[in-house]
Amino acid sequence: MNRRAQFLEVLGIPTEWMPRAPRLAQPDAAVQPVAMPVAEPPAALQAASVAEADTHAEAPLAAPVARPATGERAAPSLVPAGPAAGTAQADREAAIATMDWPALDAAVAGCTACGLCQTRTNTVFGVGARQAEWMLVGEAPGENEDLQGEPFVGQAGKLLDNMLGALGLARGRNVFIANVLKCRPPGNRNPEPEEVAQCEPFLRRQIALVRPRVIVVLGRFAAQSLLRTTTPIGKLRGTVHTYEGIPVVVTYHPAYLLRTLTDKARAWEDLCLAREVHDRAGAGA
Ligand code: URA
Repeated sequence: MNRRAQFLEVLGIPTEWMPRAPRLAQPDAAVQPVAMPVAEPPAALQAASVAEADTHAEAPLAAPVARPATGERAAPSLVPAGPAAGTAQADREAAIATMDWPALDAAVAGCTACGLCQTRTNTVFGVGARQAEWMLVGEAPGENEDLQGEPFVGQAGKLLDNMLGALGLARGRNVFIANVLKCRPPGNRNPEPEEVAQCEPFLRRQIALVRPRVIVVLGRFAAQSLLRTTTPIGKLRGTVHTYEGIPVVVTYHPAYLLRTLTDKARAWEDLCLAREVHDRAGAGA
């Protein structure tokens, strides 16, 4: 089975793709609008189960303490603190920006910069090849990730692994997977702006050390945090953005894909775009 057929099977989409008009780039977004195909999945697939999802961002919308579905909520903006705190934060960021992998690993493991250190079981640094050409960025560890210290190990992670496999990628081989937050927000609540602000330097440094050819951002929260925007995910998709000079493609969070038929189909478009961007970056290297 070829990769495309394999991917469609992973997502439960057996139908053929119909060409559609290209989407125009956002005026503020970096570059390259790309014409992507769109699928019309059969109605029978609407039964994708929320119960299969991780407890993390995949928690049902009805749960009051849990975050709503990943990919459907606004991310907090990165709010700068007051002048004194600003200087300390700037110093901290400058220190993190020079760390090598072991120092960064240790800094994350010992981090007490926000309250999440009090409730975490493990920090979740990230996993994968440190010279990977692909980098995937999710939102925050959920319950399973907090227990195991590794990103995307629940049901959403299984879907993510299958999606990677369909692209010829594998966790730990040619991809590095990380989250915006390295600690689990208790009860899977939404990350606070201050937590994002404290954790972002770690992700920034990870990206600088990996220097991937392409970053695939999973879900609205991660996309809005990384790209520092409040633009909805539907408008961030289909366009190549940049982060520190590295091309960024936005797609839906795998937990969200577990239950959302139409957006499952669109995820394939996004990964095709990411593959194109990756290959193009390689050709120019
Ligand atoms: N969702 C995320 O965004 N990250 C994980 O590590 C797990 C679930």
